[in-house]
Amino acid sequence: MEVGPRDGLQNEKEVVSTATKLELIERLAKAGLQDIEAASFVSPKWVPQMADHAEIMAGLPSAERYPNVNYSVLTPNLKGFEAAAAAGAREVAVFAAASEGFSQKNINCSIAESLERFVPIFEAAKQQGIRVRGYVSCVVACPYDGPVAPEKVAQVAARLLELGSYEISLGDTIGAGTPASVLRMLEAVERVAPVRKLAGHYHDTYGMAVANVYASYQFGLRSFDSSIAGLGGCPYAKGATGNVATEDLVYLFNGLGVQTGVDLDALVDCADWISGMLGRAPNSRVSRAMLAK
Ligand code: HMG
Ligand code: MG
Repeated sequence: MEVGPRDGLQNEKEVVSTATKLELIERLAKAGLQDIEAASFVSPKWVPQMADHAEIMAGLPSAERYPNVNYSVLTPNLKGFEAAAAAGAREVAVFAAASEGFSQKNINCSIAESLERFVPIFEAAKQQGIRVRGYVSCVVACPYDGPVAPEKVAQVAARLLELGSYEISLGDTIGAGTPASVLRMLEAVERVAPVRKLAGHYHDTYGMAVANVYASYQFGLRSFDSSIAGLGGCPYAKGATGNVATEDLVYLFNGLGVQTGVDLDALVDCADWISGMLGRAPNSRVSRAMLAK
């Protein structure tokens, strides 16, 4: 799941134009990414960068050009879901947390309240044939509450699965995990959810994200979230940096002989382009190495 247009850009201070976001999505689709998180139907007061969500949906590349690409959008409540559905979304993501502190700061309610809020989203989505992905944030540690118990992650993941999520994305929001803590968390979650329904969403704050992906891959996970050029961060998780870079993941999987269907050269071009638009170098070791050649 390419989360660059959403997680990657949501924390940018300068407003990124809708045209730039759409060009980014087009370039990602062209590089071969088939699942792209395109926008968030959240409150523009909370995340101004995602305010153009309806324009993004209206401007997505045509299905004729990229028939196999799915676009997903974040929806925190029924209001967001209804707006996303009206804009043509075929997949949405709800996002809960495994820590109370982050839940309050990020979506202004407790974990239990958030799960209650999602019930009507799952009901409406089912009626309309819209797929729902479920996120659990702070699966290793919380910027407000400290270390998070793996059992708490499992509890929230189990509920999101029971409500009807097709997949649970496990977010190391502040990138504090190491293969040891990530595997302890996965062992707990695996007791309540089949591994094939789990995805790893690892931020790279401490430089452990590639190691965490590899450990999770060996554990049996086959779905990972990443962000072009390693962009990103959460406005409600101070100091957290971007997701693992998509280029770094593709390089890792190419080396392992795992098919991703993604063209690494096209990805590096895209990382170079979007980083240039944001006035910096790509935050990806692979992109920097390939661009230096
Ligand atoms: P609230 O202030 O409690 O909401 O925010 P409310 O229901 O009291 O409504 C207040 C105002 O917001 C009202 O407008 C509503 O209409 C409006 P007013 O009457 O004041 O003009 N409103 C909305 N507007 C647009 N879209 C909506 C919406 N809902 C209400 N959907 C709320 C609660 C959830 C809305 C807010 O806290 C919010 O938008 N939070 C989103 C924060 C966010 O996007 N964080 C980043 C994404 S999560 C993440 O990055 C982690 C992840 O990557 C995984 C990981 O790394 O761990 C996924
Ligand atoms: Mg994230």
